[in-house]
Amino acid sequence: MSSSLKSTRLQETKAEILSLLNVLSDKVDLERKFGANYLQLSPIRKIYTSSEEDVTSPLLKPRTDTHNERIKVELSKSEKIKELKKLEKQVKQCTKCELCKGRTNVVFGTGAPDADLMFVGEAPGHYEDVQGEPFVGRAGQLLTKIIESIGLKREEVYIANILKCRPPENRNPNANEIALCTPHLIKQIEIICPKIICALGTFAAQTLLDTKETIGKLRGKFFEYQGTKLLATYHPAYLLRNPNDKKKVWADIKKVRDFLKEGTS
Ligand code: URA
Repeated sequence: MSSSLKSTRLQETKAEILSLLNVLSDKVDLERKFGANYLQLSPIRKIYTSSEEDVTSPLLKPRTDTHNERIKVELSKSEKIKELKKLEKQVKQCTKCELCKGRTNVVFGTGAPDADLMFVGEAPGHYEDVQGEPFVGRAGQLLTKIIESIGLKREEVYIANILKCRPPENRNPNANEIALCTPHLIKQIEIICPKIICALGTFAAQTLLDTKETIGKLRGKFFEYQGTKLLATYHPAYLLRNPNDKKKVWADIKKVRDFLKEGTS
């Protein structure tokens, strides 16, 4: 074997070892940050191939809502605080649907008014209804870990839901409630003007993307919602029931982190 061929082979082997180490370190990272217990060596390649297939899947092309795109005029931080307070006051008085009758608190949203990253969940549960704050139960604790896994603090992002009032017995939101409550969320998004929205679960993803496509198909890809990047992933409550899918959320949230770092998707 010629010496130049030997050196090429050596370089290729080095590159392969480096890429394997990167994969391994990501997996160890995930185990440490999410408390996931799935560290196995064999499916590494499969995980990566399938996520690449997802991105190029012809089944669902990421959509750009150019026809819907708004010209965004970003407010100053103090204007955002003022506008959010005004909106919160209105939403707290909302009686547009029956959910107002059973609520303890309206769960408006929380976090940095000028956040680059905004999470949108489904609806308040028991603890959120009692405390008036989104994602404070078990799913919320997992969401906090997900946020921290990309080097952010909960207070540095904004967290809101599609519905601002708790549905009885935590049932799914119905179409009427979604239609009546979503305008509040749209106004929140307009004020905060985040760089990226992370939609958590079926209802947030389907509502914001105006589709009936499953979360399994929607997750992990970049879309645009009214000119703002949007990436959907599984809901933390789903992850509590299906911890094996934590690795998919880790892959998704890293895309969000990289987008925030690099500004490209
Ligand atoms: N699940 C949600 O979707 N939102 C919350 O605020 C809490 C749990």
